[in-house]
Amino acid sequence: MNAESFLDGHLAQTTLYPLGLRVARAEGLDLILEDGRRIMDLISGIGPSAWGHGHPEILQALHAQIDRHLHTMVYGEFHQRSQDDAARLLTALLPPSLDTVYFVNSGAEAIEGAMKLAKRITRRGGFVACTGAYHGNTHGALSVSYNAERKAPFAPLLPNVAFMPFNDLEGLAAIDGSQAAAIVETVQGDAGIRIPSRAWLEALRQRCDETGTLLIFDEVQAGMGRTGKPFAFEHFGVVPDVLCLGKALGGGLPIGAFVAQRDWMRQLAHTPSLGHITTFGGHPVPCASAAAALRLLARHDWEAMERAGARLESFLRAHPLVVEVRRIGLYIAVELPDEAAVTRVIQRGLEEGILLFWFLSTPQAFRMAPPLNLTEADWARIWPPLQAALDAGQTSSH
Ligand SMILES: Cc1ncc(COP(=O)(O)O)c(C=O)c1O
Repeated sequence: MNAESFLDGHLAQTTLYPLGLRVARAEGLDLILEDGRRIMDLISGIGPSAWGHGHPEILQALHAQIDRHLHTMVYGEFHQRSQDDAARLLTALLPPSLDTVYFVNSGAEAIEGAMKLAKRITRRGGFVACTGAYHGNTHGALSVSYNAERKAPFAPLLPNVAFMPFNDLEGLAAIDGSQAAAIVETVQGDAGIRIPSRAWLEALRQRCDETGTLLIFDEVQAGMGRTGKPFAFEHFGVVPDVLCLGKALGGGLPIGAFVAQRDWMRQLAHTPSLGHITTFGGHPVPCASAAAALRLLARHDWEAMERAGARLESFLRAHPLVVEVRRIGLYIAVELPDEAAVTRVIQRGLEEGILLFWFLSTPQAFRMAPPLNLTEADWARIWPPLQAALDAGQTSSH
C-alpha cells in the first residue's frame, strides 16, 4: 500500500511507505487483521502497549471510568479520582524528590513542560542535549533532538542548544552553567538502544549539581518497566530533577507526564498564574488506564521478564546475520550488516506473522520491544517466525 490511499481518504500520512495493515481487533500479543490474519506485535505499538493489547484490568478500569465521566474541566481545577489515583500510584514508585506529577497528552508535551519548568526555576535559557537524542517532534522537543536532517526544514528552532556526545565523560564540559537543563534519554531509544555507563550518569549528575543545571531524564520510551525496572534510572542509581514519561504510561491511551518536586511545580502557578495549562492533559479516561497500568507495574514479575529478555538475546546472538544486540530488559536493538538486511527481515517478519520495526535514525538495526508480560506460550509462538525472518535477511532478493 502506498501513501496515496491514505491521502485519498482525507487522512494525512507522513510516511511514504506505510505498512497499511487493516486492523480489525487487537488482543494480548496479537493484532488481528480484517482479512483474519494475526500479526504478533513485537514492538508494543512503539511502546504504549507494554502490557499487551487490551489487558483485561486496563479495559475494566476504562469501562468503569467511562461510566463515571469523560472530560469535565481543564487540568488542575477539579478533583478527579482517576487523576489522583494515577499520580499517587506513580509517585509511590518514585524517589521522594519526584513527588509531583503534571499530566499532559504525549511524550513531546512532557518534554515541552519539563523545558519550561527548567527555564522557570533556573531563569536561564539554553539547554544541553546529546548526540543521537530523540525527544519528539514539537518545536522544543525537536530543538533538543539531534538528527539534523529531520530538523533542517523547520529551522529556526530554539536557540542556545548545545550537544554533547552521549556517554562521554569529557563531553560533559558542554554543561557550562549558562543552561537551564541537561536533557538526556536515560537509555537512548532512537539512537539504537544505547545504554550509558553508570560512571557517566553519575558524572552527569555531578556536573549538573556543580553548575546549577537541572537534569531532565527523558524516559518516555525507556520508562514504565521497559528496561526491566520500573524506571531506567534505577539501573544506575542516579535520580533526575525532572522525569518525563509517556507511551506505556497510559496502558494504550494517550498521556504523558513530567514529574518533579512540589515547590518547583508550584512555581508554574504564579508569575504568571497558570504558567502551564492544557485542556486535555490529565484527561480522566487515560488517567484511569494509567492507574491500571501502574498497578500492573507495581506487581510485575521482573525476574521472569529478565529471563525472557536474556533468552531472546541469546536467540538473536546465535543467528549468523546478527552483528550486535544491545538489550536492557525488553528494550532491544538488533544490528545487522546493512539497511537492506533490516528491511528484508522486517518484511519477511510480517509475512511470517511478526511485527518488527525500523528506528528513525539507526538504519542498520531493527527494534524489538515486546510486551513485558508474555507467557511461555507466547514465546513459543515467536521463535519460528523470528528464525524465518532472520534467515530471510541473509539472502538478498536481487
Ligand atoms: C525518548 C522519547 N522521547 C519523546 C518522545 C516523543 O513522544 P510522543 O511521540 O508521544 O510525542 C519519544 C517518541 O518516540 C521518545 O522515544
